[in-house]
Amino acid sequence: MTLMLDYTFMLADAVSGGVAPEAFAAAQGSFAAAHAAVAARHASGELGFFDLPRRRDLVAQVLEYAARVRGTYRDVVLLGIGGSALGPLALRNALCAPQWNGLDDAGRGGLPRLHVLDNVDPLTIAAVLDRVQLADALFLVVSKSGGTAETMAQYPVVRARLEGAGLPLANHLVFVTDPEKGALRPIANAEGLTALDIPANVGGRFSVLSPVGTLPAALLGIDIESLLAGAGDMVHRCASSDLARNPAGVFATLQWLADTSGGKHVHVLMPYADPLREMAAWFVQLWAESLGKERGAGDHVGPTPVPALGATDQHSQVQLFMEGSRDKTVTFLAVETPARDVRIPGAHADVPDLAYLGGHSLWELLNIERRATAGALATRGRPSMTITLPQVDPWHLGALMMFLEIATAYAGALYGVNAFDQPGVELGKRYTYGMMGRPGFEGARGEFAKLPQSNPARIIG
Ligand code: PA5
Repeated sequence: MTLMLDYTFMLADAVSGGVAPEAFAAAQGSFAAAHAAVAARHASGELGFFDLPRRRDLVAQVLEYAARVRGTYRDVVLLGIGGSALGPLALRNALCAPQWNGLDDAGRGGLPRLHVLDNVDPLTIAAVLDRVQLADALFLVVSKSGGTAETMAQYPVVRARLEGAGLPLANHLVFVTDPEKGALRPIANAEGLTALDIPANVGGRFSVLSPVGTLPAALLGIDIESLLAGAGDMVHRCASSDLARNPAGVFATLQWLADTSGGKHVHVLMPYADPLREMAAWFVQLWAESLGKERGAGDHVGPTPVPALGATDQHSQVQLFMEGSRDKTVTFLAVETPARDVRIPGAHADVPDLAYLGGHSLWELLNIERRATAGALATRGRPSMTITLPQVDPWHLGALMMFLEIATAYAGALYGVNAFDQPGVELGKRYTYGMMGRPGFEGARGEFAKLPQSNPARIIG
């Protein structure tokens, strides 16, 4: 069974603040145009993420390498940021972390641990490098562009440590990068390092089903064939330009209508399952970096995605979702069958605050809390929808990630923006290059120097 999208509570006939059913029906034309625009870009050779489920060449690269090194490493350390880190993290946390917590090497069946270094905070980098045994560690340097400052700064740190330890680089370094462009590919070619491909037409935040995600997943023993099969099934399910038959289309169109016609500018993704916690962080990057754009001079669009976790955030953000500004939609991620459940024993029969829980299970409580929250939001006119996964396994995660990627592509077309670029992050990068002394960016350094500076009179301590 595949994943299901229940959008009953997104519509105004069920929840007063939702999208008018007539508006949703009338959006069929807009959706068909968005579908056609996405299909045309795909047909022209862009949007390679759609094709990743059938890229046998990439799967073969990954499986061959993973089989070759199986049992060799205790630790895999991924150096990468943004789309080069969030997908692998989401897969690891969904499919490995909960089961493995506290397990030693033998308990993990000889499979390695995965550390994802997605920042340049020296405290974290130094701590991880001090902790792992370099001789038993594999470092994956993941960068589509092969030029991202953070990853390019981490790489020489690791390389120097390996060299200092006298370890052969080819046994401890693997690059995952563009087949031709960037700084990493020529280094790999010159030094005989293994380098796996991120297809040229697959952008960072759409790359989780390329070796960016499949290599670390395969090294962790995750069934990547199943992951890709689930994703491929979702491509098939989202083929139709008929809104009623395209789940990613329904998600994108409802979110777009809620934002642009209903003032719902904040889109919350709220899994009710710890393994899916990082899926919300992955979605936040996808939705924010793809849709937050200047459409034309002074014309700024894009919803603000917010991650949440049930039931934890019922004691935090849900107060805001219930009574704060009426500017939000909430998408719940539900799981039908848990990997494990725990029965709540009957205890303190004479204490009513406790006794009613006895005999239920923790999973039952978690799911009832999700339904209760959706119902409570509905009473306040706050729209929501629910995506249900039958279980957290590679097939359904592949389907979920492809679903959200396709929805993002449609949403880009509905908003009238290019969902596949990120011009807004360039200026900060240029200033950084200038201040770090990168040749060619002297002008950016000068521009930065002319910006307003902190006024000592306005600093208080
Ligand atoms: O989605 C994107 O393109 C970005 O968020 C990138 O993933 C991020 O900037 C890292 O880029 P790269 O993989 O080129 O190092």
